[in-house]
Amino acid sequence: MNNKLVVKDLTVSASGKLIIDKVNLEVKQGEVVALMGPNGSGKSTLANSIMGNPKFKIEKGSILINSEDITKLKTNERAKKGIFMSFQYPSEIAGITISNFLRAALNTIKDTNISVIDFQKILKENTKELNIGENLAKRYINEGFSGGEKKKFEILQMSILEPKFALLDETDSGLDVDALKIISNGINKIKSKTNMGILIITHYKRILDYITPDKIYIMVDGKIVKEGDSSLSSKLEQFGYNWVKEENN
Ligand SMILES: Nc1ncnc2c1ncn2[C@@H]1O[C@H](COP(=O)(O)OP(=O)(O)OP(=O)(O)O)[C@@H](O)[C@H]1O
Ligand SMILES: [Mg+2]
Repeated sequence: MNNKLVVKDLTVSASGKLIIDKVNLEVKQGEVVALMGPNGSGKSTLANSIMGNPKFKIEKGSILINSEDITKLKTNERAKKGIFMSFQYPSEIAGITISNFLRAALNTIKDTNISVIDFQKILKENTKELNIGENLAKRYINEGFSGGEKKKFEILQMSILEPKFALLDETDSGLDVDALKIISNGINKIKSKTNMGILIITHYKRILDYITPDKIYIMVDGKIVKEGDSSLSSKLEQFGYNWVKEENN
């Protein structure tokens, strides 16, 4: 049986405002699932809630890996269970190099103690495989990084941490055509290496041309209003969200 990440009847609020309303969603390992929807529809909130961001309050429903309920676990415990999130707006962390950060994260998540020397080898392999400049790893996290460099660093994290499930929040936004290819190829490589399940949050069809989704969900006003195959993204590009909204009225 496939491992799966299941979101069941999830209702989420923040600052007393209802944002996610009874959402059901499923990502199997080895599967790519896209989540699309207009600005402010609740996509990032859903990803943050799956990851356990304490800013968001789960009012009802649950999050499960296979049949294990992880709804009440802290973010670091969820990371240990194999969930990874790449942020829409990654933050800077002053004074910590990527290399030190990634080694510490890997050791914590995998409960090991990989030495600096051994880690340098892992880092080198991964930067090479993903076509990411090795010099990036010597810099402080996201400090002075361009938009594209930040996104590459997110993918490098994912490659090294080898999660079971990755939530990628607008990993494609702000990328030039070459960077989009590098990042998409990277995601595909990591997927075939680890058989991870991926939830891609995006506004655009173009990343889905490189990473073909098995399923697309559309979220509007905190609800999943449509579910379909990869052809949905072409329809969205052509008609916008109005046709989905009209169908639901
Ligand atoms: N902490 C908060 N307090 C109040 N409202 C919030 C909070 N966080 C998010 N929201 C609101 O919830 C709604 C959904 O936001 P969210 O960031 O999840 O949307 P999104 O679908 O990711 O949008 P985008 O495509 O623009 O990234 C928005 O109206 C937002 O202002
Ligand atoms: Mg968002």
